[in-house]
Amino acid sequence: MSLSPIDKFIEGMPKAELHLHIEGTFEPEMMFQIAKRNGRILPYRSVEDLKDAYRFNNLQEFLNIYYTGAELLIEELDFYELTYAYLERVHAQNVVHVEVFFDPQTHTDRGVSFDTVIKGIHRALEDGQQKLGITFKMIMCFLRHLPEESAFKTLEQALPYKHWIAGVGLDSSELGNPPSKFKNVFEKARQEGFLALAHAGEEGPAEYIWEALDLLHVVRIDHGNRCLDDQKLVKELAKRKIPLTLCPLSNVALKVVKDLSQYPIIEMTRRGLLITVNSDDPAYFGGYLNENFFALAKALFLSKTDLARLAKNSFQASFLEESEKKKWIAKVEEYYSANNS
Ligand code: ADE
Ligand code: ZN
Repeated sequence: MSLSPIDKFIEGMPKAELHLHIEGTFEPEMMFQIAKRNGRILPYRSVEDLKDAYRFNNLQEFLNIYYTGAELLIEELDFYELTYAYLERVHAQNVVHVEVFFDPQTHTDRGVSFDTVIKGIHRALEDGQQKLGITFKMIMCFLRHLPEESAFKTLEQALPYKHWIAGVGLDSSELGNPPSKFKNVFEKARQEGFLALAHAGEEGPAEYIWEALDLLHVVRIDHGNRCLDDQKLVKELAKRKIPLTLCPLSNVALKVVKDLSQYPIIEMTRRGLLITVNSDDPAYFGGYLNENFFALAKALFLSKTDLARLAKNSFQASFLEESEKKKWIAKVEEYYSANNS
């Protein structure tokens, strides 16, 4: 299929991805391959059967399938291959920097060691940096449906790998699991030097975003869609320059929004919010970073100026050093000037 001029523009533009669950890049084909190698049997006859199950009415329905898939990952090699396959895919999309989430508890709770998980992912990221030139940060997420004690245990396990992990995040079932439940473990994580992030306001109310800001002291909010319900909160996010990592195709697939024609990026930008476009769990939601950009550009008739702004935001909101941010923002501007005809 040939790309439209605007899609070609998107494809060639350097971009960063800041909201990506590595377990959410597990493609059905790879699931079958890894399951076979590990002597496991998937409860689906074929890739098509499995893909047919990818119809979700809400976050929890997705998470149930996502955790079942993730349970096929057992050996360090599995985590390595998963991560490297993601990097190869996004390299072809001109993604030059990734900030990758991983969920240790999904694996340690079923007997896979923390070391196995982190070593496999990290080695692939190092190889990706060397061979593909993609820089990276790792973000360890706590599962919010589990007790805070379990998060504390995970934090302990992470300490020997502190130099590999930029920040801690909070993901999984949002409703009924507010950020306040994790106040103490985030405090300890920040004392240890980790940056704090949290999924908030995906399905949960604006109040959860306030809690993430005021109790967890996050520097970035993942999703954050529901901030628009609270004008004071929008002003506060803009004032504190807290970026929101939005995930358009995820939001459609999980029915956080009805369709992309209503997607609030224009309104959010107008209100001074720093927003970025991301893929969340691309193997489940119909596309990697460029497909998210393609869908948004089409639904909202975005211009090259809008798209270049979003790419620049992705670097601005990243955890890259200031000099690296400046370098990539200048490269996006250069690209825009050369291709804005
Ligand atoms: N884990 C993986 N994807 C997620 C999402 N969209 N929200 C919360 N937890 C997640
Ligand atoms: Zn997410």
